[in-house]
Amino acid sequence: MAVIAGNWKMHMGPVETTAFFEALRLEGVPSRHELLLFPPAISLLAAARAPSRDRRIQLGVQNIHWEDQGAFTGEVSAGMAAGAGATFVLIGHSERRHVFGESDQEVALKVGAAQRNGLVPVICVGETLDERRAGRVEEVILRQLDAVLPTCGTGGSRFLIAYEPVWAIGTGETATPGDASAAHATLRTRLEGALGISAATRVPLLYGGSVKPGNAAELMAAAEVDGVLVGGASLDPKSFAEIASAGG
Ligand code: PGA
Repeated sequence: MAVIAGNWKMHMGPVETTAFFEALRLEGVPSRHELLLFPPAISLLAAARAPSRDRRIQLGVQNIHWEDQGAFTGEVSAGMAAGAGATFVLIGHSERRHVFGESDQEVALKVGAAQRNGLVPVICVGETLDERRAGRVEEVILRQLDAVLPTCGTGGSRFLIAYEPVWAIGTGETATPGDASAAHATLRTRLEGALGISAATRVPLLYGGSVKPGNAAELMAAAEVDGVLVGGASLDPKSFAEIASAGG
């Protein structure tokens, strides 16, 4: 069973969210995989209550603050997200890191907040084009992974890692299955060293970056790829359903 996750980014208000689930129901939701959707926080309750949502589709938020409450205008806490129907949270998405300047340390704090509040973190890592050209892929993704392992590697709570090369996000450029496998193997080896082989095997490693119905099956078949994190193509019920039925 693979994990198919859709990140809606800053698209889809509450009304569109309800309509999405109606359209998705008409498409038919395949059942083989674990399906996750990450609507904007403002649309989470609409997603949670959407009469047409197949209850096998689990929900998450795209970001949380690391504190549980306080004077943090505009922020959403893990507990609030959980109360509105989230069971997952994206942490350290490249847009958070590169557009909003989120550091490895903040990412680690957010992972702690997620786990304290019972949310499963989907921790995103990935190199920029300059870093890839400079041959620094392993160094960058291992630095990002090492920053969170002291937090999520202990205690046995579930977490997922999404490898999303920054140059492949929203660009139409996709990593080759070989590139994805190589990066995932690097991450898996580090997880094995930190958690032991059997715990490391249970951490799903997702690939993200311009995943579409036409390339999802091939990417999901690549070694060490346990699923996909889909941005743009998850906004369309038909293409999300097609991706969700890919990969056997
Ligand atoms: P994309 O986004 O599929 O639109 O490239 C992926 C992501 O940012 O998670």
